[in-house]
Amino acid sequence: MDVIVPNAGVSNFRGSVDWETERRVVDVNVRGFTALANYAFSYFENKKEGHIVGVSSIAGMFGYGLSATYNASKAYVSNYLQGYRQRANHADANITITEIQPGFVESEMTEGKKGMFWVADTPKAVQQIANAIKREKNHAYITKRWRLVAWAIKLIPNWILNKI
Ligand SMILES: NC(=O)c1ccc[n+]([C@@H]2O[C@H](COP(=O)([O-])OP(=O)(O)OC[C@H]3O[C@@H](n4cnc5c(N)ncnc54)[C@H](OP(=O)(O)O)[C@@H]3O)[C@@H](O)[C@H]2O)c1
Repeated sequence: MDVIVPNAGVSNFRGSVDWETERRVVDVNVRGFTALANYAFSYFENKKEGHIVGVSSIAGMFGYGLSATYNASKAYVSNYLQGYRQRANHADANITITEIQPGFVESEMTEGKKGMFWVADTPKAVQQIANAIKREKNHAYITKRWRLVAWAIKLIPNWILNKI
């Protein structure tokens, strides 16, 4: 293997906060992600080279009442990838860590969901993700225009975020 992509993810967008739902989000998005990313890093350290591609989300940049667990799980993915990029820079191996950070993309996860904007169609999102992987980028917003939303979110003070 040259590239490993821990991509699996589930959401609780519809506001379910029962323990079973929250546990499933943590099991897949945090435990599942970590299990594969951890394995991938060791594998590539032994192989002396490789590429790990994780999928976070713009949702990971802030807390949100209707999907608190999902947003928190994606913040975990972002921070984990940054930490492992640092580890890769100190490792005796050439390991690239790419963070794919989508806004909204047409998929089963977003099907029928209301209140979305700038929803990327799947082929366009796939093409931009593939380009980021080929170019071994550290980070890519999907689609690129979501960089603007990320920039705006960073400027919003907590007292406003707390009222959403
Ligand atoms: N769509 C968006 O707007 C959006 C935005 C930001 C981030 N993301 C992230 O992008 C990634 C892909 O999501 P998607 O939009 O393509 O959603 P999706 O169509 O619902 O796909 C989810 C994927 O996760 C896999 N999966 C779920 N539970 C699993 C489990 N217990 N074990 C193994 N695999 C499991 C599914 O596999 P099966 O098909 O076999 O069930 C499927 O391949 C996720 O990490 C998601 O958080 C999506």
